[in-house]
Amino acid sequence: MALSIASLTARKQNHQPIVALTAWEYATAQVIDRAGVDLILVGDSLGMVALGYKNTLPLTLEEIIHHAKAVSRAVNHALIVVDLPFMTYQASASQALRSAGKILKVTNAQGVKLEGGYPEVVATVQKLVRAGIPVMGHVGLTPQSVHSMGYRMQGKSPELAEQILAEALALEGAGIFALILEHIPSDLAKRITETVTVPTIGIGAGPFCDGQILVSHDLLGLSETQPPFAPKYADLRAVIRDAVTQFSQDVRDQKFPGMPHN
Ligand code: KIV
Repeated sequence: MALSIASLTARKQNHQPIVALTAWEYATAQVIDRAGVDLILVGDSLGMVALGYKNTLPLTLEEIIHHAKAVSRAVNHALIVVDLPFMTYQASASQALRSAGKILKVTNAQGVKLEGGYPEVVATVQKLVRAGIPVMGHVGLTPQSVHSMGYRMQGKSPELAEQILAEALALEGAGIFALILEHIPSDLAKRITETVTVPTIGIGAGPFCDGQILVSHDLLGLSETQPPFAPKYADLRAVIRDAVTQFSQDVRDQKFPGMPHN
């Protein structure tokens, strides 16, 4: 049975860490789901990691929907959340309602995620939630703001730390069901986690969050470059390279395929 949003909230109350990973296509989503991950994010990192864009900005709603459909065909257990790509929600709350509504209508996902905690985003979150669309927030480093923010750790100064905490509280007030904390100091993540009632899920935010998320290509060693905070649990680039090299060698040496059995 698929994990519900209510059971995700219960994880915080019961101090059971939430395990989350990104996925963008059928085969990996299936393996990740069968391995028992709680939440699968069809993140807009899709644009960079799987589609080769320079940043997440060019990704379209149609592209993420295409991938979210493949993921949802694979998943039996995990909660599926889909990112709203850049400029599919910032223009107005009605644009956000149309984008998020389409995602929920056609992909089988249970929620959407959007970035930022400034007042316009908070107002949009409130409208989505009132329309029955579960929303996950995302504060700290927000990659859709790369041109103004870069990929630097956020919230290092006391003023910016207070601002991020205030954004987290405002998003909670607007009705988010969970909050991604990306690349902020761990003492700030701890403060936010202790202050808000919704589960926090950290990435590069230290150990004091209610859960942790990684980009699956980073975890599996498939990414070309690795963020400093993402450990490699496998080196699939090396595994794939060795398998392809071996196959090439066998074809060139006429060892593959072997003699037909007749
Ligand atoms: O798009 C993504 O993969 C994300 C994670 C980094 C949380 O937003």
